[in-house]
Amino acid sequence: MKLHKKLTTASGRPYVENENSQSVGSRGPLLLQDYILHEKMAHFNRERIPERVVHAKGSGAFGTFTVTHDITKYTKAKIFSEIGKETKMLLRFSTVGGEKGSADTERDPRGFAMKFYTEDGNWDLVGNNTPVFFVKDPKKFDDFIHTQKRDPHTNLKSPTMMWDYWSLNPESLHQVLILMSDRGTPYGYRHMNGYGSHTYSMIDAANRRTYVKFHFKTAQGIRNFTNEEAAQMKAHDMDFAQRDLIENIDAGNFPKWDLKIQVMSEEEALSQDYYLNPFDLTKVWPHGDYPLIDVGVVELNQNPHNYFQDIEQAAFAPAHIVDGIGYSPDKMLQGRLLSYPDAHRYRLGTNYEQIPVNRCPFATNNYQRDGQMRVDGNGGENPNYFPNSFDGMEIDSAYQEPPLPIDSPYADWYDRNCEGENDHFTQPGNLFKIMTPEQQLNTINNIIGAMSGIEGPKKAEIVNRQLSHWYRADGRLGAAIADGLGVDVDMEEPE
Ligand code: NDP
Ligand code: HEM
Repeated sequence: MKLHKKLTTASGRPYVENENSQSVGSRGPLLLQDYILHEKMAHFNRERIPERVVHAKGSGAFGTFTVTHDITKYTKAKIFSEIGKETKMLLRFSTVGGEKGSADTERDPRGFAMKFYTEDGNWDLVGNNTPVFFVKDPKKFDDFIHTQKRDPHTNLKSPTMMWDYWSLNPESLHQVLILMSDRGTPYGYRHMNGYGSHTYSMIDAANRRTYVKFHFKTAQGIRNFTNEEAAQMKAHDMDFAQRDLIENIDAGNFPKWDLKIQVMSEEEALSQDYYLNPFDLTKVWPHGDYPLIDVGVVELNQNPHNYFQDIEQAAFAPAHIVDGIGYSPDKMLQGRLLSYPDAHRYRLGTNYEQIPVNRCPFATNNYQRDGQMRVDGNGGENPNYFPNSFDGMEIDSAYQEPPLPIDSPYADWYDRNCEGENDHFTQPGNLFKIMTPEQQLNTINNIIGAMSGIEGPKKAEIVNRQLSHWYRADGRLGAAIADGLGVDVDMEEPE
């Protein structure tokens, strides 16, 4: 049945005409009083909001998280309170470096950002499809990201900038190797894993802390494009991953991920007995030492009805935790805690938490008032200060986390040239060794292809510096890349 609805202005005035502007005579100039024309043009001019400074190109869907295994001995978070419990959630995938209109199949990490609407507040786990990252200190983030964006002079992406930075910052090597493997070009978003990446903490009912890593293993199986396939898909369909996600969910083929965790006791994490820093984002916790523990299943089962409303306006922040889940001393996580809400205030405005997709569906109470686009009742007639004698608002100290025992002087800079901190090579080397011969070959060829783009007067210096890193990770890897680049190296494989 056809619905008969009247076209109106935003203030409700019915249109008498929508395709002809008021004019003096059929060929004459237009009238200033044509408010509808002004309203249409003015709103159109304001349709764009700033795109995310990173992760601008993305896709998302709503879904459900279901608990399958009991982890209440680690956490009192209500989302994990009983087997079978379901929590509504949102997942936004993304590429990192490209603009909002860039291709889905670019070689890039993929964002894996989740918002769980729990009764203790919204919990955001803002991860990637890789367990590690390029840098381990947030002061480096903007410099690193600049190398992934456009050259300020040519306005082109620049392999020279990328490899110059990576070669000068060897802690990137682990993430760069994953990026250069075929996992750097996943077959859409359904066939890749997600990782919380950082070390987080869990707090149990007795207020004890455990450190934890989150892993989301794809139930669809890992599937990647080769370099050539990714390039072909870019020419054929820039929006491959968006199309793949929306079509599968529309068809009832709901993608799933199994949530697993690794846990480390607080005593062990803080004792410095383990050979690596458990809060270093460039390292994984080897599964042999910290096995995966089953927790539950994420299923995406509902496409958003309106992309801009629910996905473009979605605001994820690692700072958004809930009772039973906490931060950690990971320096990168600490930096991100401040960065994301700041970015949201710039991109979406100070009241971004009131946009329906970001709003906590359960009660929120505070004394924040006013600001642009306040639309939630603004606290009504209630007091706007604390403490007061009227509203009976309480602070609940039951939510207090256990104190974190830290006893160190503060300093601008700590020497990281200590054992365990400065080994940027063993884990990338381990990864290369567990790859199949075909994966190794593809990775080597992808690196050769990418490094072949280095140009300019510093080319030899950058290539040699980066080669020495590959060599230190794995002699065979370094030698194969040098060979492919036609560089004559005379290096001993390190012990
Ligand atoms: P394991 O053999 O127990 O684990 C290896 C892991 O590597 C698996 O989780 C596998 O994920 C993943 N993997 C396989 N190929 C690739 C690839 N091309 N890119 C990224 N990940 C891949 O060994 P360890 O735990 O000792 O780790 C060895 C190396 O594996 C690490 O140095 C690290 O580079 C990598 N890795 C380790 C992870 C961890 O949390 N320990 C997580 C991811 C990677 P899948 O099951 O999905 O195939
Ligand atoms: C998006 C900053 C590291 C994953 C963003 C945004 C900023 C940012 C400003 C845009 C937010 C917005 O406008 O909504 C930083 C800083 C980092 C850092 C300062 C380091 C100090 C990381 C790491 C990961 C990550 C380590 C993954 C483990 C993401 C994801 C998004 C994102 C997935 C997109 C979220 C979405 O879908 O809306 N980051 N980031 N970032 N970041 Fe980071």
